[in-house]
Amino acid sequence: MTIEQGLVKEIASIVGEENCSTRAADLYTYGFDSSIHHHNPDIVVRPKSTSEVSELIRIAAREGIPVVPRGGGTGLCGAAVPIMGGMVMDLTRMNEIKKVRVNDLYCVTQAGVVYDRLNEALAPYKFFFPPTPGSGEACTIGGMVATNASGMRAVKYGASRDYVLGLEVVLADGSVIHVGTNTIKNSSGYQLERLFVGSEGTLGVITEITLRVAPKPKKAAMALAAFDRLEDAGTFVSNLISLPLIPSATELMDDICIRAVNKAVKAGLPDVQAVCMIEVDGEPEMVAKELKIVEEVARRSGAVTVQTSDDKEQMALWTSARKSVMSALSRLGDELVSVSLADDMAVPISRIPEAVVAFHRIAEENRVIVGTYGHAADGNLHTKMLLNPCSEDDWIRGEKAVGQIFDTVIALGGTVTGEHGVGMSKAPYMMKERPDAWGTMLLLKKAMDPQNILNPGKMMQWEGGIIRDLRYPCRDICDLR
Ligand code: LAC
Ligand code: ZN
Repeated sequence: MTIEQGLVKEIASIVGEENCSTRAADLYTYGFDSSIHHHNPDIVVRPKSTSEVSELIRIAAREGIPVVPRGGGTGLCGAAVPIMGGMVMDLTRMNEIKKVRVNDLYCVTQAGVVYDRLNEALAPYKFFFPPTPGSGEACTIGGMVATNASGMRAVKYGASRDYVLGLEVVLADGSVIHVGTNTIKNSSGYQLERLFVGSEGTLGVITEITLRVAPKPKKAAMALAAFDRLEDAGTFVSNLISLPLIPSATELMDDICIRAVNKAVKAGLPDVQAVCMIEVDGEPEMVAKELKIVEEVARRSGAVTVQTSDDKEQMALWTSARKSVMSALSRLGDELVSVSLADDMAVPISRIPEAVVAFHRIAEENRVIVGTYGHAADGNLHTKMLLNPCSEDDWIRGEKAVGQIFDTVIALGGTVTGEHGVGMSKAPYMMKERPDAWGTMLLLKKAMDPQNILNPGKMMQWEGGIIRDLRYPCRDICDLR
């Protein structure tokens, strides 16, 4: 669809000329997020306030134009890719932290505030917003809530949804509503704030978030345990949790990921079948005690070496090696790129050893390279496939492996997405996982967005396979609709 000049002018009069574009380069750029997908929008807008968002949505509703809200563009499943064109709404100018009220245990931020910036602002108060996504330097709070994102510290501290007390949302007709409260407790009717968590822009545009904040732990320490068998690393995590000892992070990496980070960033990780990075945090005496227990349990679970450290520099090195896995995998082979397919499933924690073994078998049977890593103790694993994006055959084998991986995950009682969301890349599998629930999601969507303008065509509205609208230059060769 081309947006006619009169309408472009009307839109520009709301956000300002400089925050509205139909230039080819901008449309192309805003057609990406960090997934395998790409599709150009017809117009890009960068509103600064809730009232601008509201005015823009009123126009979109009047004209029947799709609206796709977007934060940092770090999403890995295509939730922010405007698959049906229309208006991409970049919310990153809405980056004001409006209140920090630690005596009430909450803060209020606009949707476009970047995760790390929020935590910098909370640090002087000795508080933080804990989920720790891998993309924390760039992802926004609005995007995190819209996908229920989390990350390394979810095992102890929970996911984004666990911190959402209230939201300001612009609905499909442009009206602005406030759901939830500024209080820690609330039994005041339907918990609508929860409905918008994970809705990926399909039910409304989240503009402001009241977030619960958590006290920042005084101290942290880490252990790096190396294993000759991947299953042993999985069992180690399971043994730890069932003690019980709940670490603040438990990051697992298999041999492919270890090789990739050692090659790309010279991380110097032990050359073994699997490593597990454990972080414990809290009061200093407790941290020292727990670190000892972690070491003992690691050795008992078959670790060949265990290094421990509470040195900030060493811990930052290990954490940064872990954070670089995704990009490092793309540098492992010359023609291979790491693609986000079947990339963030979660299984009940005790099923992790079975899951990782099954993923490796599926990869071998389909002749695809799969790097497995993730936040083991919350059951959330990442399997990144390494494919030649210009080989149709690679995509066919990759998609087959994805189907088998997700069948395994569902059979183990898990979910196809633990923290990245559904978007496009997980849509058919989410419906498979939730055969008796996606119809209700669709009913809600129809009731709240009868014209279907809010991020249309995604999640339970998705039809067909996932290898389509690819971001790669050779997309036409391998668009397997
Ligand atoms: C991570 C992202 C991919 O954990 O979720 O690195
Ligand atoms: Zn992750």
